[in-house]
Amino acid sequence: MSVAAATDHRIPQDLADTLGLPAAYADGRIYEAYRWLRANEPLGVAKIEGVDPFWVVTRHADILEVSRQNDLFHNGDRSPTIVGQAADRKVREMMGGSPHLLRTLIHMDAPDHLKYRLLTQAWFMPQNLKRLEDQIRVIAKAAVAKMAACVGPDGVGRCDFVKEVALHYPLRVIMSIMGVPEADEPRMLKLTQELFGAADPELARDAGTPPEEREFDFGVIVDFSNYFRALSESKRAEPTEDLASLIANSTIDGAPISDLEAMSYYIIVATAGHDTTSSSTAGAMWALAERPGELAKVKADPSLVPSLVDESIRWTTPVKTFMRTATADTEFAGRRLKKGDWLMLCYASGNRDEAVFEEPQEFRVDRGPNKHLAFGYGAHLCLGQHLAKMEMRILWEELLPRLSELALDGQPAMSESAFVNGPKRLPIRFRMD
Ligand code: HEM
Repeated sequence: MSVAAATDHRIPQDLADTLGLPAAYADGRIYEAYRWLRANEPLGVAKIEGVDPFWVVTRHADILEVSRQNDLFHNGDRSPTIVGQAADRKVREMMGGSPHLLRTLIHMDAPDHLKYRLLTQAWFMPQNLKRLEDQIRVIAKAAVAKMAACVGPDGVGRCDFVKEVALHYPLRVIMSIMGVPEADEPRMLKLTQELFGAADPELARDAGTPPEEREFDFGVIVDFSNYFRALSESKRAEPTEDLASLIANSTIDGAPISDLEAMSYYIIVATAGHDTTSSSTAGAMWALAERPGELAKVKADPSLVPSLVDESIRWTTPVKTFMRTATADTEFAGRRLKKGDWLMLCYASGNRDEAVFEEPQEFRVDRGPNKHLAFGYGAHLCLGQHLAKMEMRILWEELLPRLSELALDGQPAMSESAFVNGPKRLPIRFRMD
């Protein structure tokens, strides 16, 4: 593996270990590591036991540069998420040599990627989403009512914002869009948490197993696929206006979409479609609870809600990393990369890059410009970004006018994952008008 030979740019071992340690993404150590790397080794090699070596891309400009060169840096040649050698071997054994258990847009490159993206791209554009605004506002009002129900006779509200509001609101939105019955939402939520929380001692399905043996739960994918296979069959038999019907009845090169690709499509929309948005919403609530001045600012000027939304996505950066693979030898950012080298794009580092953001460690509801890269960039730029921003905007529009006081009411906690994470517990105290 060529990247292993690049010892001259090897990053210090403790920092490399931090990058691979799910707990470091929960307790904030990762931000210290990123800060050092941006300043001292912005494109260095990490060697972690049990993981193939990889380049670590930490500067905003370099992340954009890799992301926009989709022919030179592929998603699908190796795993697009950080994975250990043992899990990688297991997947290849199961999948006839392929490094992927699923074939979502994230796992594809040209020419297939665009063909599959075009199946739903128009659906996710703002012109189409506009017609969902009223439906989403009804769900947002119900979420605010649920929070109001936590207010006691003394006029003080107390709840875990993650459990009461942040988890369920985006879940309801995406499931109603997909055509998944409300009764099945708890199952969808649990599976998503097990998928993204595979390394978290509280969220993982096999939470009793030591972290090093818990890397990937294949059963979660099987359960998701079984669920969506049945949904897909029903949407083929009786198509409706929803997204699941669109996917189930789509064709690629004139032939019906295959089972693997249809299941992968459902799974990415069903998981990416709510967990990230929940995390950004809870991340903003946490930040506002600690900053009464910022809360007062956005309450006084509701035109700041869209910038609050952008800042909460930058601040939380729920997708911490994706991987790319070099398709040819190349010079990049002063380093010699070899064909087959694996690169980690550290979005949360790019979003705290001092070269781009003034006081990046501060949460500002009126930050502008806010060129965060939490949605990625280039051909894979998040398909759901307009939906995510719209649903967050609507929730804040409904909630902020009624929220008169806000503070933390105990110790919040982030989930442990080097891939996708966010607040998993957020006890708050509040008053509502
Ligand atoms: C705050 C919320 C969200 C964040 C931070 C986020 C982040 C991301 C990131 C970083 C990528 C990869 C981009 C790249 O490689 O350049 C991505 C891709 C994607 N996201 Fe999101 N996402 C969010 C919400 C959503 C929602 C609501 C949906 C769907 C309903 C969604 C569906 C997708 C899909 C399908 C892709 C794959 C696109 C492709 O490879 O062409 N995301 N997202």
